[in-house]
Amino acid sequence: MIIAGNWKMNPDHQAAEALLEALSDYTPASDSNCEIVCFPPACYFSMANQALAKTGVRWGAQNCHQESGGAYTGEISAQMIKEQGGAWVILGHSERRQYFAETDALVGQKIVTALQTGLRPILCVGESEEVRNKHSHDNFVQSQLEASLELVAQMSPDAQKKALAQLVIAYEPVWAIGTGKVASLLDIEAMHQGLLQKMEALFGVQLPEAGVPILYGGSVNDANAADILGLKPVSGALVGGASLKPDAFLSICHIADKK
Ligand code: PGA
Repeated sequence: MIIAGNWKMNPDHQAAEALLEALSDYTPASDSNCEIVCFPPACYFSMANQALAKTGVRWGAQNCHQESGGAYTGEISAQMIKEQGGAWVILGHSERRQYFAETDALVGQKIVTALQTGLRPILCVGESEEVRNKHSHDNFVQSQLEASLELVAQMSPDAQKKALAQLVIAYEPVWAIGTGKVASLLDIEAMHQGLLQKMEALFGVQLPEAGVPILYGGSVNDANAADILGLKPVSGALVGGASLKPDAFLSICHIADKK
């Protein structure tokens, strides 16, 4: 299981400190193989690194640039994240796609850069309410996945195997993000199953056994986590709003610990 907390552009300094303090106190069950990762804004990287250094909790960035460096005002490279001690990066989140015009092709380039740098990418895919209402969500999300992984599909077999061992996918229906409207368990299961089949068709790998976890994201909280994480094709959760509440987020971690 992987529980990822996406803080977005939310906590102020004091709130970030409190969240990190709560996370640094987190003690997983002794037989747990659950990975906990938080995604603070870049200004808190060094604070996160210090607070979490001696814990099992990791941290990552909410985005990175596709180039390794250069004249890109306002951007942060994968290498910078890595050098600060980050181990993960969220890529292609629907807010990046919506507000920063990120395309599948761009997200695909960022995935390759993250992988080459040694960061674990979480590739986000998900349909809008409009697409869901038209009943074209399966095709839409699977096409997003395929297009975002086009460069991975072109890798040599060896490089591709290594890439797939690091890759994490998050299915986040856009209409469920920050709205309190969670996808039904049946819908989550069906979408994850479809994505697993798509990955099998694209790469010939059996998932999640082959190690590419698919997380669900969209209004996950401590009250619905047990049901969602109990679904077989769900390997964890990408949590937004509830990751800002230490008690709620730690409850989700404890639920995942027992799965
Ligand atoms: P939410 O956000 O949990 O607040 O719906 C999830 C996300 O955007 O990753």
